Amino acid sequence: AGVVQSVQALASSLAALPPEFVRPEHERPRATTFLGASPLQIPVVDMSLPDAGCRMVEAATEWGIFQAVNHGVPADAVVELQRVGQEFFALPQEEKQRYAMDPASGKTEGYGSTVQRSPGDKKMWSDFLFHNVSPPAAVNHGFWPDKPRGYRQANEAYCGHMRRLTREVLERLSAGLGLEEGAMAEAFGGGEDGLVLMQKVNFYPPCPQPELALGFAPHTDLCALTVLVANGVPGLQVSKDGLWCDVEHVPGALIVNVGDQIEIFSNGRYRSVLHRATVSREKTRMSWPVFVEPRREYVVGPHPRLVAGEIPAKYDYKAKTFENYRYCRINKLPQ
Ligand code: SIN
Ligand code: FE2
Repeated sequence: AGVVQSVQALASSLAALPPEFVRPEHERPRATTFLGASPLQIPVVDMSLPDAGCRMVEAATEWGIFQAVNHGVPADAVVELQRVGQEFFALPQEEKQRYAMDPASGKTEGYGSTVQRSPGDKKMWSDFLFHNVSPPAAVNHGFWPDKPRGYRQANEAYCGHMRRLTREVLERLSAGLGLEEGAMAEAFGGGEDGLVLMQKVNFYPPCPQPELALGFAPHTDLCALTVLVANGVPGLQVSKDGLWCDVEHVPGALIVNVGDQIEIFSNGRYRSVLHRATVSREKTRMSWPVFVEPRREYVVGPHPRLVAGEIPAKYDYKAKTFENYRYCRINKLPQ
């Protein structure tokens, strides 16, 4: 594996932002963030209430994102996940390099940072650690750091909670389409244990010129569903009706967003939300998204019962497997 040119190492020695991070005017966060008197806020869904299913369906339809509270994931499982992630990024650079992602391998797992593919391509102000957490057959412990202590237990425990929570969200969203509760899990997972869960840790160091950079460029998630926690430093923004809005993270909430696979499966009834991350001058921001992906052989497309007549061109992914879809997205090839 190559050597990771980490933003973290770069950030410690900089007074100005290097040009490869400077965004064009129309992408700069300050110029494009909506600062109205009453900023729009993403819906909050109390998962302990009887109307939680309806609220989730409404949020997935209108926004493609919501904050879940009373979600049943114990606070100490989140704290422990955050602790081991923070301690990993605090390790010396050589230690983190042991898990370096190899961009040439075509794999996405490991420790890394974005690479510039062409001179016009801008870098993002962030590093990451990324590995599968479920099912066991998809896990390669070679990408799981052996430091700090407790890394593995913390990730396995959190993953157990994510499996339960994401199953519940998939059930509610399936029912909201008039389908069986198990419809999405069945289609994406192909029966027991087919759904793949991946844990990512995003690390956004303090940035000398945050008004010129982005921690994460605008994108939709290519997976089915994402569940994210952060470290209390603001940064996540979502696009709503053409405006970029700050997400005010409710303490203890989990941020749940719809990805491309659910948008396509639902034939566009649910929205895969466009989002990005800004960075701060003084503070390190961290976030921990869990991605729920279909199995590799899943054939991307709308559920047949949601299609009247022809499949709309936008969702016509006939004969394309999820593995193929992911490859095209990562390599910026047309779908
Ligand atoms: C991402 O979309 O992967 C990053 C979002 C965040 O850090 O809040
Ligand atoms: Fe994302």
